[in-house]
Amino acid sequence: MSRSSELRERREKAIPRAVAQTTPCVIQSAKGATIIDVDGNEWIDFTGGIGVMNVGHRHEAIMSAIQEQMGQFLHSCFHVSIYESYIQLAEKLNQITPGDFEKKTMLVTTGAEAVENAIKIARSYTKRPAVLCFENAFHGRTLMGMSLTSKVTPYKTGFGPYAPEIYRVPFPYAYQMTDGDQKEANQITLKAIRKAFVNQVNPEDIAAIIFEPVQGEGGFVQADAEFFQELRELTQQYGILTICDEIQTGFGRTGSLFASGLLDIDYDMLVSAKSLAAGLPLSAVTGRTEIMDHPQVGGLGGTYAGSPIACVAALASIDLFENTDLLEQGRKGGEFLRQEFARLAEKYPLIGDIRGLGPMVAVELVEDLDSKAPAVEKTKALQAYCTDKRLSIITAGTSGNVLRILAPLNTELELLKKGIAIIEEGLEAIHAL
Ligand SMILES: Cc1ncc(COP(=O)(O)O)c(C=O)c1O
Repeated sequence: MSRSSELRERREKAIPRAVAQTTPCVIQSAKGATIIDVDGNEWIDFTGGIGVMNVGHRHEAIMSAIQEQMGQFLHSCFHVSIYESYIQLAEKLNQITPGDFEKKTMLVTTGAEAVENAIKIARSYTKRPAVLCFENAFHGRTLMGMSLTSKVTPYKTGFGPYAPEIYRVPFPYAYQMTDGDQKEANQITLKAIRKAFVNQVNPEDIAAIIFEPVQGEGGFVQADAEFFQELRELTQQYGILTICDEIQTGFGRTGSLFASGLLDIDYDMLVSAKSLAAGLPLSAVTGRTEIMDHPQVGGLGGTYAGSPIACVAALASIDLFENTDLLEQGRKGGEFLRQEFARLAEKYPLIGDIRGLGPMVAVELVEDLDSKAPAVEKTKALQAYCTDKRLSIITAGTSGNVLRILAPLNTELELLKKGIAIIEEGLEAIHAL
């Protein structure tokens, strides 16, 4: 029995099945966009630990920052003894997040925790209970996170009752709602929101609207700058705060440091996590000073919130974004993937839509181009084909029929080519069935 099989068997016995695995890879080590498994096999990483490894696995700059911090202290709890790296990172995030206004940042540990805190802050500031969110959204697995999340199975089934006062409206999903006409989809959504203000919830009871600039788990569904501007105008009329969830889109994933910068999104709070600390657990809520300062002293934080090891990793990672051509590399990789998927779409009508921003690329697979019915089983088969050939890749979409790419931004062209060749072989195999 291989070491991978042995460990998978032990995993079955020791760990609940709900803690799911998306690939059979049992990792031993990783570098850049390459993973070595416990049997010594090499994998190409198009998953990046689900959007966490934008700077690549074990980048030297990150490793040396962590090592230096390890020689000093591992933990003090920021509520007990403050430290410079937390302060420096807050200052940095206040500076680099889009928006020319006074900001403050608080740090926590996971994406869901950042979402929880942003909602707490919005409720405290507005003194309102309700939250507006979107279909196809994913905001985490905690009580508030899953309540805001759209996909019922596996994220919500059996876990109710959910947090109250959450209202959901459609996201302008141009491909599924229309013939790919973004403007029309925008108007459908804005109309649904106006309607929700009449038949679901009084807009003056809504503390905040939360959205992802490009929906991640939802299948890289994107809207345009015009939509976000009109949404802001509409919600601001009622004093509803805007929370921009950049947990998956942030730190270069869209070829820009933040998607909100690319799409000119005006927000009150921005939540980030994933690639913020290049592999260490860290998340942030950055927002307008008067809003962030509203909750009472002691109301926000946590024992591990803003771990010093994660803070130095985040500072080193931001330094890479500011002082190397990482974003440019990501954009080039994204262009290559998009061109290749366009070529494959000509050959395989299974590919219904190619979308996303920059290197955040996904393809939606459909049974036929007219009905656009989700090709769920074929997507599973394609993913299984790829992982069998040791390409780590995952799916997305509320129906699970989207293949998404979250490769490190500095993935070498050769590896991107190899990965695409595997996807092409997989499409050919499915096409031939
Ligand atoms: C947009 C978005 N928000 C929130 C989360 C939750 O983050 P975490 O899994 O770190 O709690 C995720 C995770 O995939 C995400 O993509």
